[in-house]
Amino acid sequence: MTETARELMRALGGKAKVAAMSHEQRADALEDFDISKLDAASETLRETHEWPTVAELDARVDQRGYRRGVGSLFRNSSYREAVDPPLPEGKVKRLKKMPEAPTLLDFFDARFAPSAHLLQSAALANRRGAAEETVLACLLHDMGGYLMKSDHGYWGAQLIEPYVSEKVTFAVRQHQALRFFADPATGYEYPVRYYEAFGFDYVPPPYIQAAYDYTRNHKWYMEARLVTMNDLYTFNPDIKIDIDEFREIVGRHFKQPKEGLGYDNSPVAHMWRTMINPDAPL
Ligand SMILES: [Fe+2]
Ligand SMILES: [Fe+2]
Repeated sequence: MTETARELMRALGGKAKVAAMSHEQRADALEDFDISKLDAASETLRETHEWPTVAELDARVDQRGYRRGVGSLFRNSSYREAVDPPLPEGKVKRLKKMPEAPTLLDFFDARFAPSAHLLQSAALANRRGAAEETVLACLLHDMGGYLMKSDHGYWGAQLIEPYVSEKVTFAVRQHQALRFFADPATGYEYPVRYYEAFGFDYVPPPYIQAAYDYTRNHKWYMEARLVTMNDLYTFNPDIKIDIDEFREIVGRHFKQPKEGLGYDNSPVAHMWRTMINPDAPL
């Protein structure tokens, strides 16, 4: 447990109490934590920590047996890994067998779990009274990272495009670029963990700058911005949000194909199949 997580647990009266909380109470706790602790922690980190440079991170590329952009389903790793270990340790886990016609929730259960980052981001959006489509966008925003971390917002948007509204796809796709640009009016700051992940002197490439300019002037700017505002960069592994909390929202806004994701002959079916069976050799 991180020190901030320990602090939260203490403030809430311990692990058992947190486990006994309702969804609503936990979401409250999460939001309080987000505001009162994480901002302060981020500020201290920003000032006191020594961050790697882009060149230093680049020097580590050939010191690993994997590439940092690889999807988290394909190696022994957690989804969130600001500081890469020099080499992955341990083995990948055996994946659950999936139903013949898998639903989105089956993927959460059998491929993305524990997916704490997605669940906590969506819970925060929900608690803040966001529209259902925004909650869905938050729930799905980093899903692409299971398949491919590099450009994960684009992969994620492509995966869901046939099944959700244009607005949800837009929000997921454009969060990729917006993450790198602060918006003081909404309270969104450049994430401290990006200093570690990208290097403190990192400058986003021109295509990201262009995507940001495009999104900034788009009528749905706030749809994508809300994804970044509810994106919990430091999340607490001890607060468990159940996917059931979002079952109805998914039911209303995700058009589940009756053949199952991966088997509906959509242009992205193969991408879902790859997540069903990432152990296929070819
Ligand atoms: Fe993301
Ligand atoms: Fe995220």
